[in-house]
Amino acid sequence: MHPGNNNDRLIIALDLPSAEKAENIIDALGDEGTFYKIGYQLMPVGGIDLARRLNGQGKKVFLDFKFHDIGATVERGVKSVCALGGDILTVHAEPDVLKGAVQGRGGDERLKIFGVTVLTSLDQESLSRAGVEMKLEDLVLKRAEFAAEAGADGVIASAREASAVRARFGDALKIVTPGVRPKGAGADDQKRVVTPADAIAAGADHLVVGRPIVAAQNPQDAARAIQAEIATALR
Ligand code: C5P
Repeated sequence: MHPGNNNDRLIIALDLPSAEKAENIIDALGDEGTFYKIGYQLMPVGGIDLARRLNGQGKKVFLDFKFHDIGATVERGVKSVCALGGDILTVHAEPDVLKGAVQGRGGDERLKIFGVTVLTSLDQESLSRAGVEMKLEDLVLKRAEFAAEAGADGVIASAREASAVRARFGDALKIVTPGVRPKGAGADDQKRVVTPADAIAAGADHLVVGRPIVAAQNPQDAARAIQAEIATALR
């Protein structure tokens, strides 16, 4: 899944309460939006049908389902996702989960499996509260290693850890980074935020941006500005 078009570097998170609202944003974005993320909020309220429609329109689809279950259940779930059609599917970056997902994907050439390393809403203190004392960056690298060993295609990691992942795994793993905020935008609940240009400089292949675009007064202007920042950073 090499970004054929630079606009594909930007994955727009459709974190919206209805498929209708999501379609309004998609229409407003036009060519500024070529890759869309469908997650929990949209999934039960028409998100699956919306994924099919996006497939039909030639848009790319990131299914952020973050599967986390016993390997056999993940394997069967991923087989069903292949029947739906998508470009990226997320699962938690644990060995059995990743192996089940890769097994379930089988020979499907389109669907790429990405392991979620450490959510970008977590910092060292939140890990510690959850009983995890490992250094956050080491935990990201450990989980990236699980992804590489299982034969997954990439990882989701904050841009703050992206350069360490890139240095350790080279091109063996693609990197998608959420927690991206253009200068001047609020962080919302994200703790490890970086700008689009910094995320690209850190080695991210794709950036996931939600609220700064879908909650903007003018989503198309917001997306266009981020696309321009990405294009400049790639030069
Ligand atoms: O609105 P915002 O730009 O913060 O949205 C980021 C999106 O990326 C959300 O849909 C969130 O679920 C997702 N995400 C994340 N951190 C991860 C994995 C996914 O923020 N590690």
